[in-house]
Amino acid sequence: MDSKITFKKLDKENYEILKEWWHSERVKQFWDNSKEMEEDVDNYVLKGQKSYYDYYIGLYDGVPYALVMTSEQTEDDYYEYYKEYLSKTGKTYAIDFMIGNDDFVGKHLSSITLRTFVEEYSDEEADRFIIDPEFDNEVAFRCYKGAGFVDVDEYIVKDGFFKGKKLHLMIRGREREKNVPPEER
Ligand SMILES: CC(C)(COP(=O)(O)OP(=O)(O)OC[C@H]1O[C@@H](n2cnc3c(N)ncnc32)[C@H](O)[C@@H]1OP(=O)(O)O)[C@@H](O)C(=O)NCCC(=O)NCCS
Repeated sequence: MDSKITFKKLDKENYEILKEWWHSERVKQFWDNSKEMEEDVDNYVLKGQKSYYDYYIGLYDGVPYALVMTSEQTEDDYYEYYKEYLSKTGKTYAIDFMIGNDDFVGKHLSSITLRTFVEEYSDEEADRFIIDPEFDNEVAFRCYKGAGFVDVDEYIVKDGFFKGKKLHLMIRGREREKNVPPEER
């Protein structure tokens, strides 16, 4: 692990930076920056409201450079395509990820960043993470493979911001999951 990589919950301090990343042409190609998402992050940071997502800023040696969003997927409330991939032994989280800071793009930092995030994730009961890059997003796919995610399925989004896009469905466990036979996961 790279000890220079740390994470903190998104707060007002990094909110403007995040908004810049969010609107950059590079990120916009693959990112849901719909009005609803904008409102969600505004409410989360500025009004302290609860959201479907938790937002974390990645810092490299103290410099903000990455965003990780998590959303817990439960038996009662899960994104429809994830149903058969929910963990049976612990909690499942879906992840969205970007390297937002242009100075840190293309430096082979993405896999180690995501790997660090997953391995250090604060919810001890989490033992399954799901991520789903577009087929068109080869760099993200390579990043997630490098972070230990396994490509297990694919789907075409039926509605919403990514309607019509074909996505990989990738999963990753944590140490605890290694002891559970695959058929029980
Ligand atoms: C996806 C993203 C996180 C990757 O970070 P990055 O800094 O661009 O990529 P890295 O330098 O860490 O490289 C990641 C891997 O992609 C490979 N790669 C780089 N450019 C590539 C290209 N054009 N085609 C294929 N693979 C490429 C790298 O070689 C590396 O693989 P390796 O470690 O096996 O050699 C970043 O580009 C990003 O945030 N993009 C915008 C938002 C986004 O797409 N988020 C993902 C939504 S699912």
